[in-house]
Amino acid sequence: MIKSLEKLRLEALGELKQVDELKELESWRVRCTGKKSKLTQALRSLASLPLDERRKIGSLANEIKVDLELRLAEKKKLLEENHMASFLKQEGLDITLPGQLIPTGRLHPVTQALDEICSIFTRMGFQIAEGPDVEWDYYNFEALNIPPQHPARDMFATLWVDSEETGDPARLLRTHTSPMQIRVMEKEQPPIRVLVPGRTYRYEATDATHESMFYQVEGLAIDTKITMADLKGTLFEFCHCLFGEERKVRFRCDYFPFVEPGVEVAVECLNCHGDGCRLCGYSGWLEILGAGMVHPNVLKRVAIDPEKYTGFAFGMGVERIPMLCYGIDDIRLFYNNDLRFLKQF
Ligand code: FA5
Repeated sequence: MIKSLEKLRLEALGELKQVDELKELESWRVRCTGKKSKLTQALRSLASLPLDERRKIGSLANEIKVDLELRLAEKKKLLEENHMASFLKQEGLDITLPGQLIPTGRLHPVTQALDEICSIFTRMGFQIAEGPDVEWDYYNFEALNIPPQHPARDMFATLWVDSEETGDPARLLRTHTSPMQIRVMEKEQPPIRVLVPGRTYRYEATDATHESMFYQVEGLAIDTKITMADLKGTLFEFCHCLFGEERKVRFRCDYFPFVEPGVEVAVECLNCHGDGCRLCGYSGWLEILGAGMVHPNVLKRVAIDPEKYTGFAFGMGVERIPMLCYGIDDIRLFYNNDLRFLKQF
């Protein structure tokens, strides 16, 4: 028995030497150390041997098994290394070359600002709505208490799509997001709390703080018992969330035909900390939004009873927000598509 076990070992090791592929190695493993191998059978037959023989033969058979398994692992490692080396040679790969970095994209700073603004107001209970960029005169002006020939039309230098002179209802590129106040109130009954992000357009010469296409976010809240204090609280909370508790916020009277009273909110210029610079027109403040209590005429137009309901609205310029946060001194940088600028955010 001892002799035949040693013979088995020699034969198995001899065969292992001839193996030069992983597939062959697997069949060697099955044949020489597997369940049906002669070695396993010898181990099984130990039980029928007398005790002293069983010990001797048993320990030899186990030693052979361990030996074969060790040689198998060594050979496997060797074959795998050879396989990888020949694969790399064939493919012409040089794994010592440093990898190429995949450029990662990022959100445009204005998109980031829009997301941040929407997230603050949705946490306060506002719902997001969107409307068309090409708008009717009716929604952009008339329903907002700005009839034809009203001098307030000059506040919004308009890009017309249709000529005003034909007498047909005229279309334009919306000059603000306020037309969505009307569209929302036509469809929904109070209580209303909506937030409308979107592009707006003005026929204006551009400068450091004015673009002809820019983003606004409109807010509208209509309910019973809404007061100016709600408007002020909401906007101060928003400014403090965005700019920090320390930043000074200015709230003062302004005029918009669709609100009464109207206000303008400005934030202390981050660029000069209120001392005055090119960015803030040397005033120390940057105006970010117009707001006010919704005018009773606007509510009547959409059949909401101004005796029962009141509300506030605001419209903010989105580009002004990253300008304030990062001290960017020219709005035109956002739309020049210069990656050296955009990659910083
Ligand atoms: C309006 O557009 C009003 N619809 C805001 C409003 C809404 C008032 C609801 C009352 C109630 P105004 O023209 O001031 O207002 O614009 C609002 C904000 O948009 C400004 O404070 C400013 O931050 C931004 N803005 C205005 N014009 C430009 C421009 N040309 N380029 C970049 N941002 C601008």
